Amino acid sequence: MNRKSNSEVRDIWNTNAAFWDKRMGEGNDFHRLLVEPNQLEMLDIKKGDSILDIACGNGQFTRKMTQAGAHVTAIDLSDEFIKIARAKPLADKINYQVIDVTDTTDLNKLKGNIFDAVVCTMALFDIENIEPLIGFLPKILKTNGKFVFSLLHPCFNSGEYTLVYERNDTGGTINDNYYVKISNYLKSQTLKGIGMVGQPIAQHYFHRPLSEYFKIFFKSGFYLIDLKEPSFKDIEPKSVYNNVFKNIPPAIICSFKLIK
Ligand SMILES: C[S@@+](CC[C@H](N)C(=O)[O-])C[C@H]1O[C@@H](n2cnc3c(N)ncnc32)[C@H](O)[C@@H]1O
Repeated sequence: MNRKSNSEVRDIWNTNAAFWDKRMGEGNDFHRLLVEPNQLEMLDIKKGDSILDIACGNGQFTRKMTQAGAHVTAIDLSDEFIKIARAKPLADKINYQVIDVTDTTDLNKLKGNIFDAVVCTMALFDIENIEPLIGFLPKILKTNGKFVFSLLHPCFNSGEYTLVYERNDTGGTINDNYYVKISNYLKSQTLKGIGMVGQPIAQHYFHRPLSEYFKIFFKSGFYLIDLKEPSFKDIEPKSVYNNVFKNIPPAIICSFKLIK
């Protein structure tokens, strides 16, 4: 990746870190309802498991895994996020490091570790080039080790998409209809967007179709063993977002196994 644009990515996350931390806390609704239970189920953490948390942000999921008994190494490109995470509970049990996973020199700092599992929560689309990372993982993940990650669903909640709400009184009743409008799904591209309304500056998103993600994992020896598409179907909708994503999944959670 271009070093200049990567330092821009770092600057953006450093600028947004305090705001994100305040809003995210120990997990917002999206994480609590959709991401966390599925990732924890897929990881099936045993006491003493050694886990690498990639792009840990403020460490909210890192702490969940630590509470479940894992020894976690948690890395992020943003030194601001790592500073925030280190000031939170359980920091003495967690190995936090500033590491840019697009940089092979940085990745090599992880050499010598053998992890039972690797996790990446809602962040692969924030990373411009994931090929160095995925190619490197077989060096530090045990055979049959899992790589569990969540994404904004590339088919419905990523790239060029618009949420649509329509109301009509056809047939003499009020009908509310919710859709997602998608264009250019197959085009891998960099877009700017807002992860949390009110954040100081827009961030980059690196949209890729699912086939592109999977191609990169398959090439490095990863086999898909589980996939979930959770939605807000079981909650009382509070927003257009919740309504759109009642029967359309806003996230996808995958578990890949490394076969060497
Ligand atoms: C949406 S946040 C997710 C944070 C955390 N995993 C969570 O779910 O709360 C995305 C994170 O990706 C990190 N990130 C972006 N590019 C990165 C890179 N090249 N290497 C490591 N981390 C990166 C950002 O600094 C940010 O903390």
